[in-house]
Amino acid sequence: MSSKKIILDVDTGIDDALAILYAVKSKEIQIEGITTVFGNVSADQATRNTLQVLELADANDNIPVAMGAKKPLFREWSGPVIHVHGQNGIGDYELPEPSLQPLEEHAADFIVRQVNEQPGELTLVFVARLTNLALALAKDPSIAGKVKGLVLMGGALKTFGNVTPIAEANIYGDPEAAHRVFESGIPITMVGLDVTRKAKFQEEHLKQLMDLASPENEKMIKFIEHIIRFGIEASVKMNEGKCRLMHDPLAVGVAIDPGLVKSENHYVYIETQSRLSAGATVADLRLSRKKTETNAAVCVEVDHERFIEHFIQTVASRDERGEG
Ligand code: RIB
Ligand code: CA
Repeated sequence: MSSKKIILDVDTGIDDALAILYAVKSKEIQIEGITTVFGNVSADQATRNTLQVLELADANDNIPVAMGAKKPLFREWSGPVIHVHGQNGIGDYELPEPSLQPLEEHAADFIVRQVNEQPGELTLVFVARLTNLALALAKDPSIAGKVKGLVLMGGALKTFGNVTPIAEANIYGDPEAAHRVFESGIPITMVGLDVTRKAKFQEEHLKQLMDLASPENEKMIKFIEHIIRFGIEASVKMNEGKCRLMHDPLAVGVAIDPGLVKSENHYVYIETQSRLSAGATVADLRLSRKKTETNAAVCVEVDHERFIEHFIQTVASRDERGEG
């Protein structure tokens, strides 16, 4: 079976770390590179965390990491999200110093180069602010027609926000970048809060994962156990329930298997002006309005049980990379 080639863009906090491990362990996906950006943590910290997580999964020697934007296109970065991800972004877990360095190349240049070298081949999976992609599109708008698609974690269509009453963090964190990406013509699958809020990882799932894990994954499972427990505690304090919402892993899950979700095609506009609603993802849902043009498949339903099961099976599985 041929695997899907992806570039993954992350702001490595807790759910990004889980998304990286899920993608690394998936046989259905081949990661061509990981790009990093400010968001949950600084771009430098996200890069360090990414290298450490790859090393933990023994995947550091064949996946290049390129660091990208340190701030939004036109705004200031509001700083790390410590109450959700801890001081270091990975629940204050101490991983060994990474032995490898990121590429010299900026993330935006890496994206432009990879897409041009492999036209029609790459799916972009973005689980952070869309700044690196907006920069890449500014450098070379033609890449919009050369990517296979963009699966992004971000936005909220028919539900409330998580960082403001109506905005989701990845879109709110750089609305102008999101606007440019949504207007670029790239075929978008929006994996927003409408579905990620239903993807709850609970204590019982952690137990299943730990029971299933092959012994060679011990270090990785210990890390996952820590960050999930840290995450559950943070979620309880935020009244999100006794679970960790699997925002970023679900985007990877949808890239692997689009059948996990049902979507609706809409024209999604990004609000960039208003003080109260900056970062909102707005579509005209009135039935009376005939849709003539759309720019995104917005996920509205998810088979969350099948997704969590697939996540557990994949992450717990014995590592067969390089075995024939
Ligand atoms: O709103 C959730 C998103 O914001 C996730 O990608 C999380 O990692 C943060 O970046
Ligand atoms: Ca993220």
